[in-house]
Amino acid sequence: MNKREVMIYTRYERFWHWSQAILIFTLFFTGLRVHGSHELIPFGLAVNIHTWAAIALMVLWVFTTFWNFTTGQWRQYLFKKGIMKVIRFYAYGILVGEPHPYKKSLQRKQNALQSLAYMTFMTLIGPALWLTGILYLLYNLWSHFSWSGEALWVVALLHTAAAFAMGTFVVIHVYMTTTGKTPLHYVKTMITGYDAVELSEVEEAYLKETKAADIR
Ligand code: HEM
Repeated sequence: MNKREVMIYTRYERFWHWSQAILIFTLFFTGLRVHGSHELIPFGLAVNIHTWAAIALMVLWVFTTFWNFTTGQWRQYLFKKGIMKVIRFYAYGILVGEPHPYKKSLQRKQNALQSLAYMTFMTLIGPALWLTGILYLLYNLWSHFSWSGEALWVVALLHTAAAFAMGTFVVIHVYMTTTGKTPLHYVKTMITGYDAVELSEVEEAYLKETKAADIR
């Protein structure tokens, strides 16, 4: 096996990652204004920005889900064995300088804990936000029902709870990005697309021949 700098995040992957990050920060900031947690911008402006950023995020999710399935990248998110080893590493091993228990490969870009976290993000937190968010957006369509007042209260509560789950995910995610070789190593990888990956000679020859992934 040889370590090579391989393009593991394609241009589209990096585009959706960073645009999703910007949109989620925007939605969190404006959502907290609507909720009443701060008054840094006017209420009406916050509602407007929140609505447009939410529509942009949902369009991005539709394209990215299509991309995940057509490229086969969805397999990266499947459950992997060895999650306890990764948890033990982040709780203890990292503090005493142990090596990371998982080796990155093109077919396994994420460790077991990452896959579980991203799967939760995509199947629980994301859908909880867009389902309740769409109900919220379409309130005018169901506001005439006798139960609309109570229902709106439940929708707002679930939406806010999911928003805080998203906030927690982001804080942990940002902390995790600082635990690479250097604090900015993983951020650089998500900007340039390249990271060091162990390749067998056969894999390296295959990638060079087919140009399936760029090697530096
Ligand atoms: C994904 C699609 C989303 C949609 C369609 C959506 C839609 C909405 C709507 C319509 C409102 C009510 C604003 C108003 O008064 O008109 C709202 C409020 C809010 N949103 Fe979103 N949103 C989405 C994503 C997010 C995300 C990603 C976050 C945070 C990370 C978030 C956080 C909040 C918060 C905290 C509120 C205030 C809830 C309250 O106290 O009533 N939203 N959202």
